[in-house]
Amino acid sequence: MNKNYQRYTVTAALPYANGPKHIGHLAGAYIPADVYVRYLRLSGKDVIFVCGSDEHGTAIPNQALKEKTTPQAIIDKYDSLIRDCFYKLGMSFDIYHRTSEPIHHQTSQDFFLTLHQKGLLTEEVSEQYYDEEAKVFLADRYIVGTCPKCGYANAYGDQCEKCGSSLSPSELINPRSTLSGKSPVLRPTKHWYLPLQNYESWLREWILESHKEDWRASVYGQCKSWIDAGLQPRAMTRDLNWGIKVPLPDAEGKVLYVWFDAPIGYISATRALFEEIAEKKKKFATPQRDFGKIQKDDWKKYWHNEETKLVHFIGKDNIVFHCIIFPIMLHASGEYILPDNVPANEFMNLEGDKMSTSRGWSIEMHEYLEDFPDKPDVLRYVLLTNLPETKDSEFTWKDFQAKNNNELVAIFGNFVNRALVLTQKYFDNKIPALGALIDVDKNIISELKNFPSQIAFSLESYRFREATASLMDLARLGNKYLAETEPWKLAKNDLPRVGTILNLALQIVANLAVVCEPFLPSSSKKLKEMLAFDGTDWTKTGSIDLMKAGHPLGNASLLFEKIEDQVIENQIKKLNDKKNAMELASLPAEAAKPEISFEEFSKMDIRIGKILKAEPVEKSKKLLKLQVDTGIDVRTVMSGIAEHFSPEEITGKQITILVNLAPRKIMGVESQGMILMASDKDGKLRLLQPSEVVAPGSKVS
Ligand code: 2FM
Ligand code: ZN
Repeated sequence: MNKNYQRYTVTAALPYANGPKHIGHLAGAYIPADVYVRYLRLSGKDVIFVCGSDEHGTAIPNQALKEKTTPQAIIDKYDSLIRDCFYKLGMSFDIYHRTSEPIHHQTSQDFFLTLHQKGLLTEEVSEQYYDEEAKVFLADRYIVGTCPKCGYANAYGDQCEKCGSSLSPSELINPRSTLSGKSPVLRPTKHWYLPLQNYESWLREWILESHKEDWRASVYGQCKSWIDAGLQPRAMTRDLNWGIKVPLPDAEGKVLYVWFDAPIGYISATRALFEEIAEKKKKFATPQRDFGKIQKDDWKKYWHNEETKLVHFIGKDNIVFHCIIFPIMLHASGEYILPDNVPANEFMNLEGDKMSTSRGWSIEMHEYLEDFPDKPDVLRYVLLTNLPETKDSEFTWKDFQAKNNNELVAIFGNFVNRALVLTQKYFDNKIPALGALIDVDKNIISELKNFPSQIAFSLESYRFREATASLMDLARLGNKYLAETEPWKLAKNDLPRVGTILNLALQIVANLAVVCEPFLPSSSKKLKEMLAFDGTDWTKTGSIDLMKAGHPLGNASLLFEKIEDQVIENQIKKLNDKKNAMELASLPAEAAKPEISFEEFSKMDIRIGKILKAEPVEKSKKLLKLQVDTGIDVRTVMSGIAEHFSPEEITGKQITILVNLAPRKIMGVESQGMILMASDKDGKLRLLQPSEVVAPGSKVS
C-alpha cells in the first residue's frame, strides 16, 4: 500500500538450523531481502533487517537422530555454518539471532500468554498419533506417510515437500513414526488452538480487498484459496521435549508449535538488536546509520507503530504462515502492525530438476564458497537475474558461466576498466575536466539521469530481476558511449575532448559504484577503492557531479574474472557425483545370509597377497588372469574383474585372497583361489586392501 512510511522492518525467513542451506534458499528470500535493505539504507531510510536461526520444531531432533548427536549440537553446528555463509555472501543483517536465546523464549511465552489471557486460544483434547515403542506423541515431522494430494510416499505430518501442501498428520495415508518406523496408534492429548476461522472476515478484508493490487498474484492466490477452502482451528502447542515450554501450569511435556514461535523470532531479534545497541555492544549493520540516542524500548517503534512498513521475504512454502497464521497472531494480540507486503518467491530448480539437499541435487552455500571464495557477487548476480519471482526458475552452471563472462566481465568490468585505464594513460590518473558538450554527451547525461529512479521503482515494486537488468543496462550505456565516442582515437589531436568523454564515462562509473552496491556489495567496495570515492547516497545518483575534475583515482584492477569451461565442467561433474553418492547411500543393504558357526568360518584361510601380473583372457570380457604372490606361493587366479579394472591398474596392488578354495578350471586354466572384493550397491567392485602395506601372506581373521 502507498502509505507514507517513516521506517522499515524487513525480515528474511529464519532458516531451520537442521542442515546447510542451498542457493535456492538464497534466491527465495535472502538475496532479494538484502538488495532491498541495502537500497533503502542508501536512500537514507530508517530500516532494520532481521534474521536468525529457527532452532525448534521436530526437524531439529530428527536431524540429531540421523547424525547420532544431540539437538543442541545440531543447532550449534548449523547456526554457525549458515551464519558464516550468509556473511560471506554479503547479507547485511542488523542482527542474525537464534530462537534458542532466552529473550526469544521469553517473548514467545509472553505472546502466548497474551492470547491465552484474552481468551483467544481454545483448549481441545483430540486423538493424536503416538509411538508405543518410543513412548512419545508424534508431532509434525516425527511422522511420515503418503501425501493424500500427490501420492508422495514420504510426506511429513505437517507438509508435503513434493507438492508443498500443508497437511495434518491425520491426513497422511499409511502413517509411520520416524523414530521406530512403526505404525502409530491414536491417543488423546490436550492442546491449545488458534481458531483461525474466527478471523475469516477480517482476513478477507485485509488481504483479499486491500492487497489485491500490490501483493504478488501467486501470494494473493495462495491466500485466497486457503481462505476459500475454509479456515480450521490450528494447534499452537505440541507434545515434544524440544522447544519452548508452554507457560501454563497444566502443560507438562508440551512446547509451543514451531510455527508459533519462529515468526515471533523476528520480534525477539529486534528486541535483542535494540538491547545490544542501547548497551553499546553493537552498532547498526551500516555504520553511518545512527538514529540518535537509542533506547532499549525503541524496538517497539519497529513493530507497533503504524508508520513502520513491515516486509517479510520468504519462499512460497512459507506463505500461509506469514500471510495468514502470523498476521492473525499479530492482529489478535492487539498491538502489532501487519506486513505491508510478503514478496514470496517460487522455487529455483537446478539443471532441470528440483533442488534438494537430501537427494544431493543442490549447491549448498558453503560448497559454492569453498570453490569460489572470492566470487560472492557472481552468485548474487546470477541468482538475481534469475529469481523465481513469478514462476519457478532454473539455475544451470552454463548460465552461471555465461552471465559472468558475457555480462559481468564483458560489459560491466570492461566498461569500468576502459574508463580507468584511459584516464591513467592520458590524464595521470586524475579526473579530467569537462569541456563543451555535444549531442552524444547530452543524450548520455539525460539517459543516465533516469536509471537510478527506474531501478528504485523496480526495487520498491519488488521486481528484483528487472532492477538487476537495468543495472546492467547502465553499464551497457557506458560501453555504448565509449564505443560511439572512441576517445582512444582522439588523443593525438584533441586531448580536451578525450577529457570530456572520460569525465562523463567516470561519472557513469561512479554512479555504477553506488547503484550496484545493493546487488554487488563487494564489487561496489572494490570499485570505490579504484575510484578513491566513498559515495553512499542513492539520492545523489543520476547526476554527473559525483566526482570533481582533478580528483585522483586509486589503482585499477580487474573487477571480474572470466570463468573457464573446465571449472564449469568440474562443477557439473561434482553435482552428478554427489547425487549418485546420495542415491547409493540411501539404497538398502542386501539382507544377511543364514548364520554360520565359528568352526565353519574358521575353515576359511584368508590372506593378503600382491598381484604380480595381470593379463586379459582371450574370448572373455569378464576375466583377468592374475599371478598372485600369496606369501605361501605364487599362483594363478582367474578373476571376474575385467570390467572393473584394467590389467595395468591392478598390477602391483595388494589384495585379499581366499587361499584354500578348491581349485577350479575356468576357460581351460586352473584357478587357485578367489580374490575378495567389496561390491557397492550399484554393483561396482573395489579392492579390499589393508590400511597400510603388510607382508604377503598376512592373515585376515
Ligand atoms: O521454512 C523454514 O525454513 C522455516 N524455518 C522458516 C521460518 S520463517 C519464520 F517464521 F521464522
Ligand atoms: Zn504432496
